[in-house]
Amino acid sequence: MTKRKFRIWRGDANGGDFQEYMQDVGEGMVVLDVIHRIQADVANDLAVRWNCKAGKCGSCSVEINGKPKLACMTRMNSFGPDETITVQPLKTFPIIKDLVTDVSWNYKQNKRIAPFKPKPKGADGQHRMYQEDVDRVQEFRKCIECFMCQDVCHVLRDREGKNDFVGPRFMIRLAGLEMNPLDDADRIPEIRHKYGSGFCNITRCCTEVCPEHINITDNGIIPLKERVVDRYFDPIKLIGRKLSGKKVRTEPQDV
Ligand code: SF4
Ligand code: SF4
Ligand code: FES
Repeated sequence: MTKRKFRIWRGDANGGDFQEYMQDVGEGMVVLDVIHRIQADVANDLAVRWNCKAGKCGSCSVEINGKPKLACMTRMNSFGPDETITVQPLKTFPIIKDLVTDVSWNYKQNKRIAPFKPKPKGADGQHRMYQEDVDRVQEFRKCIECFMCQDVCHVLRDREGKNDFVGPRFMIRLAGLEMNPLDDADRIPEIRHKYGSGFCNITRCCTEVCPEHINITDNGIIPLKERVVDRYFDPIKLIGRKLSGKKVRTEPQDV
């Protein structure tokens, strides 16, 4: 066991500050273990959200030394021997208490998205899709809703009217739906006008923090932006649609 210095943000919506704790740390411990020790030994009322302790529920996301991380997957031996470990709540969401934030805004964005709408079955009575299509949308389904990508997205951090942009987590949900060949819904007008695809300037900060290594920007957001361009701005596609008389929707619905 070695003693390690932790700075943990304590407070609530009315304000707070960092408090220092010295804690014994043993081999194999992760940051969440140490927080639990501190909670058990000296700070019984310290609030921290967690569930699985296996990197799969997304509950324990916090900022550790300024970067969003899962506390249960951040090993103590990833820090220098004399490094102070600073733990604070995700900055983008309102604080409830200590390390726990109110992430309910994200669930509201989720509800704005039109759900999967299955296409009619084929002549053989089956739904079929190619394996490459399965693989493409499977990547987006790995999301554990830790909301760390939402936390680092400067569009969500800086803008007060946050409903203008649903954020990277929901852009990949949209990508998973739009790229599913069995889905019959059209969300392109909403992606442009309601979900705010134009706000993303492809900084890739979201992709860098994703614990599931989802290529949020290159595989999700950029292809959605390309679909918006095809619909609204591609002159060849516009002429083609004019000649063929094919109608596509350009006005968004209320969501
Ligand atoms: S790439 Fe887009 S969605 Fe991701 S953090 Fe940057 S602005 Fe936000
Ligand atoms: S996309 Fe990645 S970073 Fe964003 S919520 Fe899902 S798992 Fe977390
Ligand atoms: S406790 Fe579930 S991801 Fe950390």
